[in-house]
Amino acid sequence: MKKVIFIFITTLIVSCTTMETGRYSGLTLEEKLIEKRVDSVLNLMTLTEKIGQMNQYSTWGEPTGPGAEESLRMEDLKAGKIGSFINLTGAENTRIVQEIAMNETRLGIPLIFGLDVIHGYRTIFPVPLGEAASWDLERIEKSARIAAIEAAASGIHWTFAPMVDICRDPRWGRIMEGAGEDPFLGSLVAEARVKGFQGENLEDPNTIAACAKHYAAYGAAEGGRDYNTVDISERTLHEIYLKPFKKAAEAGVRTFMNSFNEIGGIPATGHPELVPEILKKDWGFRGFVVSDWNSIGEMIPHGYARDMAHAAELAITSGTDMDMQAGCYTRELDTLVMNGIIDEKLIDEAVRRILRIKFQLGLFDDPFKYCDPDREKEMILHPDHIEHARDIARRSIVLLKNDNGLLPISKDKKTIAVIGPLADDQDAILGEWRAKGLSEDAITLKRGIIQAIGENGTILYAKGCEIDDDSDEGFAGAVNAARLADVVIVALGESALMSGEALSRGNIGLPGNQEELLKAIHRTGKPVILVLMNGRPLTIQWASENIPSIIEAWLPGIRAGNAIADVIFGDYNPSGKLPVSFPYVMGQIPVYYNHKNTGRPMQPEQRYTSKYLDIPNEPLYPFGYGLSYTTFEYSELKLSSEIMGMEDELSVSVIVKNTGDRAGEEVVQMYVRDMVGSVTRPVLELKGFSKILLEPGQEKEVEFKLTAADLAFYGADMQFKPEPGTFKVFVGTNSVDLSEAEFALKE
Ligand code: BGC
Repeated sequence: MKKVIFIFITTLIVSCTTMETGRYSGLTLEEKLIEKRVDSVLNLMTLTEKIGQMNQYSTWGEPTGPGAEESLRMEDLKAGKIGSFINLTGAENTRIVQEIAMNETRLGIPLIFGLDVIHGYRTIFPVPLGEAASWDLERIEKSARIAAIEAAASGIHWTFAPMVDICRDPRWGRIMEGAGEDPFLGSLVAEARVKGFQGENLEDPNTIAACAKHYAAYGAAEGGRDYNTVDISERTLHEIYLKPFKKAAEAGVRTFMNSFNEIGGIPATGHPELVPEILKKDWGFRGFVVSDWNSIGEMIPHGYARDMAHAAELAITSGTDMDMQAGCYTRELDTLVMNGIIDEKLIDEAVRRILRIKFQLGLFDDPFKYCDPDREKEMILHPDHIEHARDIARRSIVLLKNDNGLLPISKDKKTIAVIGPLADDQDAILGEWRAKGLSEDAITLKRGIIQAIGENGTILYAKGCEIDDDSDEGFAGAVNAARLADVVIVALGESALMSGEALSRGNIGLPGNQEELLKAIHRTGKPVILVLMNGRPLTIQWASENIPSIIEAWLPGIRAGNAIADVIFGDYNPSGKLPVSFPYVMGQIPVYYNHKNTGRPMQPEQRYTSKYLDIPNEPLYPFGYGLSYTTFEYSELKLSSEIMGMEDELSVSVIVKNTGDRAGEEVVQMYVRDMVGSVTRPVLELKGFSKILLEPGQEKEVEFKLTAADLAFYGADMQFKPEPGTFKVFVGTNSVDLSEAEFALKE
């Protein structure tokens, strides 16, 4: 730790008092101090060193082992040409590399180490879509907190999460990384995750910088095919896709990542408005923007940049501060500056942003504070973390169907057949983007059930078939097991590599021969519980019509088996609700709850209305849907007034009663509809929810507040404001079963 630090300490003392003007105005004292320190470093840097800070490379494997020099680009590192690494992990490894940056570069500027810590570091939680199904913001935040604690103990300063892309197309593999289809829920989940990763104080060595990605509209890829073209209206961009990003910015997320896709003909990485105008100017974002992996270079195949130099020029002028892995900045920026094509001030601005975050992380004060092998040993797979993994996994489970109360089943003296390719698969349940997660840490459903019933029952296990091939060789064994059982649990779904990046599917039914296996088991006449594990909504029409009980468990993480067993045996009463619609069939996609009404809303008997000949308009399971082992009754929906002024706060209340015989949690949901606008409005928009616990027979009043700001939208003039008129407000247990009331918003 050397040169730079001493220099800025002396300059700081002299100049603290002269900071009030210019760039420093409006900043807190702490922020001003950091700015001053940033400037003191920047003033010492050569152009090459500045560009180096804007350069991020990936490195794999052991930095100390053979080939390390090459994979670390040692010469570049020592020449100050690298500001960040991605994929370098471990307290020891990161220390070795940080030491090189500190001791063998001219200025000793610390590196920032980034990694995709998406749903846990080593303790793996459910995939983010699954966690969103818990609608439990506190626990979602806790998952991110734990992920940060483990990652930070292993030398990581920065995660490329949360992924906040709204997605209305379940074919898109990356739907599993986000919070589903709704911008309101998506925004709150984004905020919770940012808070979880970053904690109260970024300097705390238990916290890491978060990154809102992929900016923007990546989830709107045509046909659900990854990296594909996006062409949406400006209004949809703002109202649907940008909302969670804005919330993440408001929550103080330190970095943004731009996206691979184009929007209306312009790649996001070179978009003149997205970052400079909207993010940095309108939202006042002071962190830095990293490109996605080679997204700068990909502006060439997009047909937007002529060559790497042009790509670098477009990216820097569009506000991309750090180049992930394209090498365009290191190769081209100095020539662009020397030739007067790029003003060095742009580079200074980018470097300032990057250094600012390094300062905020405390790296200049102690570049090694994240490299502590003892803490790493203590924190990785800490028992509290594992306990949370089980808790959040069971809270993420959505009970889709439960005819005749087949579930929960008793633990007493049962012969239980556990069948299916997901029943004992330790790999799939961790999902994609598992950071340092290891399948050997994972508890499968079979094991979870054995642990739950102990000596009490007999388990008959049969795999039945593979996840994705067409063999039926295992069917006979599976059917035999089912015949001998009192109850059959069939675990079906997707492998880890069927959702995630570049893992779009054109057919989102159960892969391979799994549905045939399910049919064969069903024919035994035994009571069947279907457990689904998957990273996206699946089309399960046959199962939903024929199988009495269906549990959607997503890809639940390292305590999958215990969490599902908790639900199956009733140790936990399921409370998850779908954050995304489950289509009836593929032909409905995109199908989402906050759609428009059209001029000819569907009427079954009327030919010339908006519908299909052969399939319903409604999804199989709607947004917000999920059952419990108990029942809830809604009554007395009340508004504090039928008229709301622009400055008023309207109270919306409802009584919710647990009418069953066991305690349960319910996610009470509030939606609104603006009946007439200067542009048409969705038939429903989620505006509030509350997750409550009710004992049997207990009732609670749930109250939501609505202000005019909650009713704002981008009108015909693209101004974001509420318009006076009639509104409906709906409250209920999902986006279909709702009670309604009406009020008027007055000028
Ligand atoms: C993904 C990002 C990820 C990055 C680094 C890209 O391919 O789109 O989400 O953060 O790789 O791994």
